[in-house]
Amino acid sequence: MSNSESREVDLIKDPGLPAHVHRRTDTDPVAAKRAERQVAILFSLSALGTLLLIFSFIFVSDETFFFIPVMGQTNAHQLGIGLGMAIALFCIGAGAIHWAKTLMPDEEIVVQRHEFRSDDEDRADFVKTVKEGAENAGLGRRPLIKRTLGAALGLSGLTPLLLLRDLGPLPGDDLKKTNWKAGTRLVTDPGDRPIRPEDLEVGAVAQTQPEFAEGKERHLEDIAKDAVLLIRMRPEEFNLDSERLSWTYEGIIAFSKICSHMGCAVALYEQTTKHLLCPCHQSTFDVTRAAKVIFGPAARPLPQLAITVDAQGYLVAQAPFTEPVGPSFWGRLS
Ligand code: FES
Repeated sequence: MSNSESREVDLIKDPGLPAHVHRRTDTDPVAAKRAERQVAILFSLSALGTLLLIFSFIFVSDETFFFIPVMGQTNAHQLGIGLGMAIALFCIGAGAIHWAKTLMPDEEIVVQRHEFRSDDEDRADFVKTVKEGAENAGLGRRPLIKRTLGAALGLSGLTPLLLLRDLGPLPGDDLKKTNWKAGTRLVTDPGDRPIRPEDLEVGAVAQTQPEFAEGKERHLEDIAKDAVLLIRMRPEEFNLDSERLSWTYEGIIAFSKICSHMGCAVALYEQTTKHLLCPCHQSTFDVTRAAKVIFGPAARPLPQLAITVDAQGYLVAQAPFTEPVGPSFWGRLS
């Protein structure tokens, strides 16, 4: 053996580490048993935390927590889910750390470094060592820990499923429906006043909403989906086919105000070019050609609302929108 090889062997035998201090649980079976119970309690608490999460998700309403009224604006449903998850995650982590620090083998091992790829004999040794390690961890000998850890891990696996479910119901065809129907009056927004064609001069733009029956409440999602822009031009300025032209009234044309790219409000109208501009990503729509996209990332024109006037001379919708309003991906969701 060369000098350098014998020095290496000496270093492996004595790498210069301080003397090993044994833990109490290594020498005292009573302490080991106590630590085992503590680990089991932590894993059991983790399982209870997950059960609390599941219980809160299914049975706890927004106002009461376990039949106890909750103060102020606290949402009891969310409080129960959050508490349950915090207890489950904290206790399973604390249990694992406590188990590792008190009961898992506490040996200092010196291993010589090898080439990156081990030879077949070493690989077989590794598999053997892993198996021995699993055995040494004591899962076989400590069924209490094994069972409570299994319960904690098994139940915690349900958490992501519940959270996925909490994303809410699929929108179905809600995104395709607005409150525009045949005969619905266009009213000013804000103000809720019916609009006559003569209220709009050539070049004027107005934001409108559908008229709601007396007592029917308009929600935010209605306002967001129903917003319509009215623009008045000279009729000869339109470059539309006969069907789309019949959707206009005396030079007034109506489009959904929600950008077909990602849903921003299309709010800028250039009177000279007759272009509508979305401020978010600069999609530009040509009003004279039924809001055809002439620039930007939007993939389809703004939906056009067919309009006319009713017997009292107020502007009304001829029919609902013929396509979903808003971003194009809405149409792919259902
Ligand atoms: S949201 Fe209108 S261009 Fe992107």
